[in-house]
Amino acid sequence: MPVKTIIEPFRIKSVEPIRWTTRAQREQLLKAAHYNLFLLHADDVLIDLLTDSGTGAMSTHQWAAVMEGDESYAGSRSFDRFRSSVQDIVGYTHVIPTHQGRAAERILFGVACKKGDVVPNNTHFDTTRANVEFVGAEAVDLLIPEGRQPSLSYPFKGNMDVAALEALIARVGRERVPLVMLTVTNNSGGGQPVSMENVRAVSAVCKRHNIPLYFDACRFAENAWFIKLREPGYEGKTPKEIAQEMFRYGDGCTMSAKKDGMANIGGFLCTNNDILAQQEKDLLILTEGYPTYGGLAGRDLEAIAIGIQEALQEDYLRYRIASTAYLGNHISAGGVPIVQPPGGHAIYIDARAFLPHIPSEQFPGVALAAELYLEGGIRSVEIGTLMFAGAAQMDLVRLAMPRRVYTQSHVDYLVEVILEVYRKRESIKGMRLTYEAPFLRHFTAHLEPH
Ligand code: F0G
Repeated sequence: MPVKTIIEPFRIKSVEPIRWTTRAQREQLLKAAHYNLFLLHADDVLIDLLTDSGTGAMSTHQWAAVMEGDESYAGSRSFDRFRSSVQDIVGYTHVIPTHQGRAAERILFGVACKKGDVVPNNTHFDTTRANVEFVGAEAVDLLIPEGRQPSLSYPFKGNMDVAALEALIARVGRERVPLVMLTVTNNSGGGQPVSMENVRAVSAVCKRHNIPLYFDACRFAENAWFIKLREPGYEGKTPKEIAQEMFRYGDGCTMSAKKDGMANIGGFLCTNNDILAQQEKDLLILTEGYPTYGGLAGRDLEAIAIGIQEALQEDYLRYRIASTAYLGNHISAGGVPIVQPPGGHAIYIDARAFLPHIPSEQFPGVALAAELYLEGGIRSVEIGTLMFAGAAQMDLVRLAMPRRVYTQSHVDYLVEVILEVYRKRESIKGMRLTYEAPFLRHFTAHLEPH
């Protein structure tokens, strides 16, 4: 019989110690951080699941490539390697490096969008929405209804509602829609994938109306793996072939290389449109840097050139998706309500269902995140009423998994801590705000228990 156990497809060459604290110490530290985990010092966190962005471990190949970095201001070798590696996957004519994903978004929307425009997306990530709104355009989320029900299991909960897209274009008029965007996987909707069938359908609508289709490609490799696992006809294809096919249906993309680029910093913007690319490069020179480095060091370009290919390796993706699912399935089996099915990069706990005695205005997600820290030194992030105020449709706690960083026993530890907090759930108290900034309040808010 073939061996079924999925293991980490790497061995560890360099280790970074993590630091234990006692519960009494964590009580003090949390109080000093005003019950806001963003305000903790990272050294006081045992397992840090705040984000999967820029927190991954680089491979020996990436570190070796870092030494090959060509730091020439213009025309560096590292840029050529970066561009050909990215183009090998995305196939687009122009590859513009940026310091991270939101810089690519700002340049794209700054050039392609104007006041009064409407940008549809399955679900805009918060920086994407903010960059659309910054130019005076409207960001519209057109997720399928299945994607909005946390406990419902459905293979492609990140899909766009194609009929709603048609209706929106008909209502506002084609000239007000400068581009359509698909976020793969759908981070704000639980890290859920978009199917190739949906990509094809959205692309067909865009082509009919002559509207460019862009991907927010941050987690394109994880999305490709879900297509391979779940979509008929793709079982025999490699993740790279699937990703290449997906990108062919579009005209460009934005990318944060801090996710499936397997790098600690970086991003890029791609397009097939020569005129747009020229305007984007002009803006890039103004704010990011010359088009052959775009705010990155040559060594960063090298790390991305290697990392983006490693993210598509089958043994890596098999382990990556299995280890996130392992966490989700084990806490779910213990009764913990999560967004189903487990996402690619993160597990989202439904804090309203976990803590039904805490009303939304008392921030159940913040209360749960605080308790996970007190119990086991785990840092997660609230995605709910503190982050989105009255606009929050759900109160979720996201446990984002850094890439290639934690092992199976770390995940077993997480399961044990989360189940222990679940047993004690009735004793957890709601929170009240004592300080809030006028915008993006979750980063700096102060709270205290009721
Ligand atoms: N788009 C998506 C879907 C993202 O998840 C992110 C970042 C960005 C764009 C922006 O990229 O951070 O490089 O500027 N998400 C991180 C997170 C911050 O924690 O989910 P960036």
